[in-house]
Amino acid sequence: MSTEQQHNVNLKGLNTFGMDVQAQSLIEVTSIADVKQLVSKGTFQGKFLILGGGSNVLFTDDYNGVIVLNRILGKTVIEESETSVVLQVSAGENWHETVQYCVDQNWCGIENLSLIPGCVGAAPIQNIGAYGVEIKDVLESVHFIDLETGQEKQLTNDACGFGYRNSVFKHDLKNKVLITSIVIRLAKQPSLKLEYGAIKDELANNNYEHIGIKEVSKAVIAIRQSKLPNPADLGNAGSFFKNPVVPKMEYDRISNQFPDVRGYVVDDQHMKLAAGWLIEQCGWKGKRVGDTGSHAKQALVLVNYGQAKGADVRQLAHDIIESVWNKFGVRLEPEVNII
Ligand code: FAD
Ligand code: EPU
Repeated sequence: MSTEQQHNVNLKGLNTFGMDVQAQSLIEVTSIADVKQLVSKGTFQGKFLILGGGSNVLFTDDYNGVIVLNRILGKTVIEESETSVVLQVSAGENWHETVQYCVDQNWCGIENLSLIPGCVGAAPIQNIGAYGVEIKDVLESVHFIDLETGQEKQLTNDACGFGYRNSVFKHDLKNKVLITSIVIRLAKQPSLKLEYGAIKDELANNNYEHIGIKEVSKAVIAIRQSKLPNPADLGNAGSFFKNPVVPKMEYDRISNQFPDVRGYVVDDQHMKLAAGWLIEQCGWKGKRVGDTGSHAKQALVLVNYGQAKGADVRQLAHDIIESVWNKFGVRLEPEVNII
């Protein structure tokens, strides 16, 4: 057991925005038993924040509570047949390393999610997605500790309320559970998802003789590296806003006025707008305000050039929301968890 509490801990290295803030205290958990011990000590009755890789949070101030750092490790194959493998992965495992492990085994399903930062435990929370795949496509169940009772529980995929960047863990179960592992089912026969235009282009550029899981993973990594800043070089948390989903009538109104608008069909009645495009049209792309700004290669990514405070980024986000609202009548919502 390792639930020793550290006090006045600097969080700069524990959030990809690189915000230089202090936490009142921090506890690292490395096992389910650790979490249960914290439940019985009453840790979760006070102010707390569970942190994995810190790649989807913006700290706007010092954190006046306990940071619970999830470092529960382990991967186990719990079922295997000729066609698929069912893998349980503990929440503290690094997401990208898990993807690479599966790619190396030739297990198909999460290669399009290569290079997403953070830990496995956070993946179901916003139903991580990229290049035509979401974690919900392979997920069997999510295992967690109920922070009120200390009981181990699980939800199957259909009970997780998954949607675009959404799940029950952002709503009814927010701050009520600590996710300890996920179970995913991967295919042994490749069934590649190549619909996303940029993947096709990237694969074509490489003239591969054979296209398999590894090539798709490499293509996704190359695309991401060409436009998304590496948090090790430039603080950021990926897309700061969600792509807004609007009724079809609303989309028609906007596209009549702005024929170039980028939109994707969600269903018969809804369209998803590219927030990066909306932000770029308002003149924010590549614009620097003090030590924060919108990234030059991807307007949807807000960055910290070094000394920005969380409040500066929050102000920039607010100004962007206002100008997109004024120009298009569409309200952007943050994807990042503002703390
Ligand atoms: P954290 O930031 O540590 O936590 C995020 C939230 O989940 C917090 O509210 C936290 O309290 C909660 N939480 C974390 N772990 C647990 C747990 N075990 N139990 C309960 N609650 C928990 N996201 C995408 O979906 N697609 C992308 O393509 C993508 N690209 C990105 C690119 C870059 C460069 C960056 C920096 C981020 C990107 N993201 C993307 C966002 C981010 O990587 C994901 O949301 C990731 O899943 C966050 O993982 P994390 O461990 O860092 O979560
Ligand atoms: N676009 C612009 N200007 C910009 C950025 C984008 O016009 O500055 C346009 C592009 O030309 C393209 C469209 O917007 O037509 C979509 O751009 P892109 O393919 O880069 O994807 P995105 O919608 O901006 C989403 C996710 C990313 C994910 C990629 C790939 C959200 C909020 N973001 O970005 O996820 O990696 O698709 O699937 O859904 C994240 O969540 O943190 C994240 C990085």
